[in-house]
Amino acid sequence: MGMKRSWWLLVIVSLGIMIGFSAPYLTFDSANSRVDTAPGSLQFPVLVTHILFAFAALVTGFTQFMERVRTQRPKLHRNLGRIYVVSVMISALLALPLTGYMDDFSKAVGFIALALIWLFTTWRGYRSAVNRDFTAHRRWMIRSFGITLVAVSGRLLVPVLLLTYGVLHGFSLPEGREGMVDAVLNVNIWAGLIVNFMLVEWVFLKPKR
Ligand code: HEM
Repeated sequence: MGMKRSWWLLVIVSLGIMIGFSAPYLTFDSANSRVDTAPGSLQFPVLVTHILFAFAALVTGFTQFMERVRTQRPKLHRNLGRIYVVSVMISALLALPLTGYMDDFSKAVGFIALALIWLFTTWRGYRSAVNRDFTAHRRWMIRSFGITLVAVSGRLLVPVLLLTYGVLHGFSLPEGREGMVDAVLNVNIWAGLIVNFMLVEWVFLKPKR
């Protein structure tokens, strides 16, 4: 499969998965929330706002890698880049208080790490563009978008992790079906982070020699 085709496959799979996961929240009705939210708290509005800006980051992020936009519409690249950076900042900062509602420590730390690395890589990418260091800009923005796509890979890895759980427990369910799903959703962000990190550093940013 050529580079172009695998790229469009990534776009379609990512948007497909994230539209599916985000749609219930666009009703702005907490009854449709997959995450159990504390009634009367800020949790649901913060979650919905996180999702809206995260989605903007996902869509604008994809456009930034299209060569035609970068070379022929540099102004558009710059404006969409600004929307990407602001969306990541808002979405990541809103993700932090959401971790306070999680009862699993490992899950909460996974999301905190993800949010901080999202902020850091995006900030470095932004600063290097402002400083016109476009080699660094390219590298940091590939890293940043690799982190954005943990939202996708973390979800794609769920079936793999369910299988791993099954193998490790001899295909019995000591904690019941719900316990199994909870256990998987406590580690899928960590797994997505490691997989995307390896792909970005070992495949896309591998030093030429
Ligand atoms: C990469 C950095 C990201 C971080 C740190 C982050 C953080 C979070 C956190 C803390 C939650 C609450 C989870 C819970 O309470 O169980 C959440 C939920 C959610 N986020 Fe993000 N997120 C990120 C990227 C994205 C992206 C790019 C999208 C794309 C639209 C997205 C869409 C969602 C959705 C739809 C939910 C609701 C959970 C569900 O129903 O599956 N997030 N996120």
